[in-house]
Amino acid sequence: MSEDIRWEVVEESALTLPDHEAIAAMLGQAFPSWSHWYVGGRDYAGMQPERRVVGWGADGTVLAHVGIRRMFITVGGQDVLVGDTGIVAVSPRLQGSGVGRELLVRTRAVLEGLRVPYGFLGAGEDRIPFYAHMGWHEVDGAVGTFSAFTADGVGVNETEQGGWMVLPVEAQLEDWPTGEIMLNGQQV
Ligand SMILES: CC(C)(COP(=O)(O)OP(=O)(O)OC[C@H]1O[C@@H](n2cnc3c(N)ncnc32)[C@H](O)[C@@H]1OP(=O)(O)O)[C@@H](O)C(=O)NCCC(=O)NCCS
Repeated sequence: MSEDIRWEVVEESALTLPDHEAIAAMLGQAFPSWSHWYVGGRDYAGMQPERRVVGWGADGTVLAHVGIRRMFITVGGQDVLVGDTGIVAVSPRLQGSGVGRELLVRTRAVLEGLRVPYGFLGAGEDRIPFYAHMGWHEVDGAVGTFSAFTADGVGVNETEQGGWMVLPVEAQLEDWPTGEIMLNGQQV
């Protein structure tokens, strides 16, 4: 990696408005189809994270980002505590150069620090191999229901088959319950 990155793990209440604006600016570039969500200081599209991993460039721009929030979801009727993980992004000009690897290694360390049983995320089909390569496991045949991102309509349920991935942290992969996943809210 040729560029110096200053990594920071930061709690949501410690972020300033300029921090939020810098994160939103990068998210808009990394997710061009959804850049209309990441306007001004709006640096999340669904659930607001409680903690973030942020990689800062020397010029004060954000080069890498992950958001995490602990939440209970219901899986096959059982409550499961997860570190819901989302808004995973590397600045487009650095993608493919190892920054995403570093970001996910740091994400795992945060999840370990939170002592959650599992990390949890919903991945688009084209991103599953990246997360699988970094140690996450797709739950076989899982169907998950969540509340749509606010910008897509408050109160609307969405159901996705496939792409639900877990990272065993304090619990074992084989102890993940069988059955339908209900997030009972939005995703980070
Ligand atoms: C997805 C994303 C975060 C990955 O970051 P990145 O910096 O491009 O990833 P890296 O170059 O560090 O790759 C990390 C490792 O994953 C591997 N990898 C990356 N994409 C892969 C894929 N599609 N299939 C298999 N392995 C993959 C790399 O080969 C690398 O492996 P290695 O370190 O063992 O050589 C980044 O491309 C991005 O921000 N994309 C746009 C936003 C996005 O889609 N976010 C995810 C939303 S679910």
